[in-house]
Amino acid sequence: MHSRVCSLLASGLALLPSLVSSSPIVPHYFRAVDVSRAVSPKQVQNDLGRTLSKGALIFGPSNPAFAEATERWSTRSMPADIQVVIEVAQESDVAKIVKYCYQNSIDFLAYSRGHGSSSTISKFRGIEINLSKLTGITIQPDKKSALFQGGVYADLSIKKLWNDGYIAPTGSNGCVGLLGPALGGGLGRYQGQHGLISDNFISLNVVLANGTAITVSAKSNSDLFWAMKGAGHNFGIVTSAYIKIYQRNASTWHYHNYVWSQDKLEKVFEALNKFQGKGQIPALMGVNFGQFSIEPDISKTEAVIIWSFAYDGPAADAEKLLAPFNAIPAISSTKDDVSYPDLLVAQQTDINSASCSSQPYVGSTTWLQTYNVSSQREIYKLFNKRIAQNPGLAPGARVFFEGYSSKATQAIDPSSSSYPHRDEYLLVFFAVAAPPPLEGFARAWADKTVDIWYASQPGRRRATYVNYAVGNEPLESIYGYDGQLSRLRALKAKYDPRNKFRWYNPIVTY
Ligand SMILES: Cc1cc2nc3c(=O)[nH]c(=O)nc-3n(C[C@H](O)[C@H](O)[C@H](O)COP(=O)(O)OP(=O)(O)OC[C@H]3O[C@@H](n4cnc5c(N)ncnc54)[C@H](O)[C@@H]3O)c2cc1C
Ligand SMILES: *[C@@H]1O[C@H](CO)[C@@H](O)[C@H](O)[C@H]1NC(C)=O
Ligand SMILES: *[C@@H]1O[C@H](CO)[C@@H](O)[C@H](O)[C@H]1NC(C)=O
Ligand SMILES: *[C@@H]1O[C@H](CO)[C@@H](O)[C@H](O)[C@H]1NC(C)=O
Ligand SMILES: *[C@@H]1O[C@H](CO)[C@@H](O)[C@H](O)[C@H]1NC(C)=O
Repeated sequence: MHSRVCSLLASGLALLPSLVSSSPIVPHYFRAVDVSRAVSPKQVQNDLGRTLSKGALIFGPSNPAFAEATERWSTRSMPADIQVVIEVAQESDVAKIVKYCYQNSIDFLAYSRGHGSSSTISKFRGIEINLSKLTGITIQPDKKSALFQGGVYADLSIKKLWNDGYIAPTGSNGCVGLLGPALGGGLGRYQGQHGLISDNFISLNVVLANGTAITVSAKSNSDLFWAMKGAGHNFGIVTSAYIKIYQRNASTWHYHNYVWSQDKLEKVFEALNKFQGKGQIPALMGVNFGQFSIEPDISKTEAVIIWSFAYDGPAADAEKLLAPFNAIPAISSTKDDVSYPDLLVAQQTDINSASCSSQPYVGSTTWLQTYNVSSQREIYKLFNKRIAQNPGLAPGARVFFEGYSSKATQAIDPSSSSYPHRDEYLLVFFAVAAPPPLEGFARAWADKTVDIWYASQPGRRRATYVNYAVGNEPLESIYGYDGQLSRLRALKAKYDPRNKFRWYNPIVTY
């Protein structure tokens, strides 16, 4: 016990003042550190079975559904020990389960779409609360917002709203949850026009660590509202959320996809820098995605450069902006004007795309403001070199570049949310699907790649998007260098003093 206490104190928690001054919090922490009770499906069935709503399911590893029920996008971030899965059928089930876990010192983890891939998740043992059946989307009478339940994912929202002429801010991939991304900020193709997903929160129905259900908004628990717009995974389970929706802009999006050979690399990144400036992507040019990848039909040893632009409006307007890219001779290029749901297919981000499939990923990520062209060349060379060493990794290896328009995200008052990256414009990441014998090789490659990116911006501090973090980044790079962490930790002491929410890039670790 004593050594545990010492290590807790030694970790330099900003919570210390409240630990000292507010004595009731102290025992909670000690119990959380000391107790991690194992639990069986039978026990949970006995204790909770009758109180949960009809349709809720409780099962464990011996159930045939368990294998599927423990699937994740990255099999490397699989929790250490899911003892019981509970699939809730009603929002009210969530509070009952959490209260039960709290009273019995059992750990719990919310699951929506399983794309969370930080290594921190793999430490989890306990009850997984599957929110997947909570898929309600209710457009409000004024048509300016909708109530989204906690298990809604992008594909559902996009398809439900588009045909009626509306859009909601969501992530770009159809398969990805709505709240998982949103609680960390929430990037998507509409952020240039309407801000991050979380910038569009009106109010959240939240279950706290002790099972108390509360409303979190600018008027109610406003301190927590600030925290949950950027660091929300650390504070509660959102059973549903009122989020703004908008009339769609144009009736079609224009996309233009290019495949370039490596000798065009400098021209492409120079054109991107000119086009993007520092955070100057036009609002309607929702996103441009790029990648280095091996396309075996073109070359088995030399990665190509693929770029996909998406514009909320007609071809003529978009192509004016794309003229500099049209001037770079491409191996191939395709373009069209399509509905928003079809745009996801064109950008290979739809729910059936390869990007949504489950793999043993190893990765790394950072934010950038602009591209350092010689550094992208260095990363490119490293990519081909590593593929030459292990050609079998080629199908699952990518360097990704994401340039979201940030016009509206920059216009929003940074003090309105804990999201700390409004001055970061380009999200880059590396991912390789690697079998266990090649994990070390893949890790070294991922680390080297991100080191080149870090070195590419002399004088700038590391910045990491919480939802892309792989789990080895400094916490300040994720949550901000301007005191956000101490403010968040004070709110932790207030709303989650036992630190039950500590599985996803936790702000308090022990
Ligand atoms: C293919 C792919 C595409 C992506 N695209 C985007 C994108 O376009 N924009 C973007 O911003 N990010 C994107 N991400 C990152 C994404 O934001 C995170 O992976 C996010 O955690 C996924 O949420 P989930 O519900 O799918 O995953 P889960 O693993 O189910 O959840 C992730 C974390 O969120 C918590 N959580 C989930 N739902 C709730 C809830 N209702 N209340 C409280 N906590 C909850 C979970 O407990 C867990 O800690 C993408 C990731 C992948 C793998
Ligand atoms: C979650 O529940 C859904 C809906 O019942 C189910 O299809 C899915 O396999 C479950 N997944 C996990 C990880 O529990
Ligand atoms: C789309 O939005 C832009 C910028 O706000 C505006 O100029 C344009 O008219 C809109 N188009 C439609 C079809 O509403
Ligand atoms: C590009 O990165 C290199 C390090 O690889 C660095 O020395 C150089 O200053 C960077 N250039 C700019 C413009 O930041
Ligand atoms: C639950 O936690 C909240 C926030 O810490 C607290 O205000 C509330 O009193 C707690 N409820 C119970 C029943 O302990």
